[in-house]
Amino acid sequence: MLEALAALEKEGQEALKALREESELPVWYREFLGRKGKLTDLLRGLGALSPEERPKAGQRANEVKTALEEAFATRQTEIKNAAMEASLASGGLDITLPGRPVSPGHLHLSTHTLRRIREIFAEMGFQVYDSPEVETDENNFELLNIPPYHPARDMWDTFWVNEQVVMRTHTSPGQIRCMRENHPHPIRVILPGKCYRYEQITPRSEHQFYQVEGLAIGHNIRITDLIGTMREFARKMHGEERRLRIRSSYFPFTEPSIEIDMDCILCVGKGCRVCKHTGWLEVAGAGMVHPVVLRNGGYDPEEWSGFAFGMGVERPAMLHHGIEDIRFFYNNDLRFLQQF
Ligand code: PHE
Repeated sequence: MLEALAALEKEGQEALKALREESELPVWYREFLGRKGKLTDLLRGLGALSPEERPKAGQRANEVKTALEEAFATRQTEIKNAAMEASLASGGLDITLPGRPVSPGHLHLSTHTLRRIREIFAEMGFQVYDSPEVETDENNFELLNIPPYHPARDMWDTFWVNEQVVMRTHTSPGQIRCMRENHPHPIRVILPGKCYRYEQITPRSEHQFYQVEGLAIGHNIRITDLIGTMREFARKMHGEERRLRIRSSYFPFTEPSIEIDMDCILCVGKGCRVCKHTGWLEVAGAGMVHPVVLRNGGYDPEEWSGFAFGMGVERPAMLHHGIEDIRFFYNNDLRFLQQF
């Protein structure tokens, strides 16, 4: 038995030295150390030995096993290293090539635009007030002077969560929250955020979009303050040469209400496809905060006055970048997103 073990060890070591290819390694392992290999075969003979011989032979068998296993591991490393060196030498792998760049991603175009808007208003002293996207009917409509029966509700197609709760159709309900939280102190805030309308989705309208609301409450605030603020914004955002046009309008929560346009940034007022040949682009709906709304917010309209505006975010971004379809903002196509 002991001789057979010694012979097996020698045979194994020699066979190992003769190996050249990685693929030969498992073949060798199966032959010598596998469950049906030569060592196992020999061990089966242990039972036939006398009780005196058995421990000695068992110990020796273990030694052979360990020795072969160690030799195998060493040879395996040698062969693998040799294969690596050969591959390097043959030029198959150039380890001096730069690695593949990791794409870190970047901000969404809407986020970029929002940040720029925030920056401009921050310079004018406006803070940001956050307000939820799911609102009560009361905040979204009633406290903004739009009672249930009022036809002005038709200005906003609404997603209803239940009879009292809606996906906000505009950022204006934030006005109520902000006033109730801050009265009787002056306010100068913008309220950026998502709004939702139950609308047919087309290249020009999505059922979700961003708005930035503005609200200033104080003593002796006038419509000229509103117009001046919007002019400053338009010039910072769209170029110093911008001019504004004011049209009268209607919103239930402002009185008087206005629509603010600026001269088209592409044709500078001459008329082109972007401005639909009018020379003007819509910037915001706005007005002086309605006395009823001031009162709902906790301010006495005899003492306080204020202005509010609401503007879109995607539209101006579309103008700037010549984007023809608002749906690109929301369908997560990287080919679109990576352009900005
Ligand atoms: N909330 C209005 C809209 O979504 C815009 C607006 C805001 C008008 C504030 C006046 C004052 O159409």
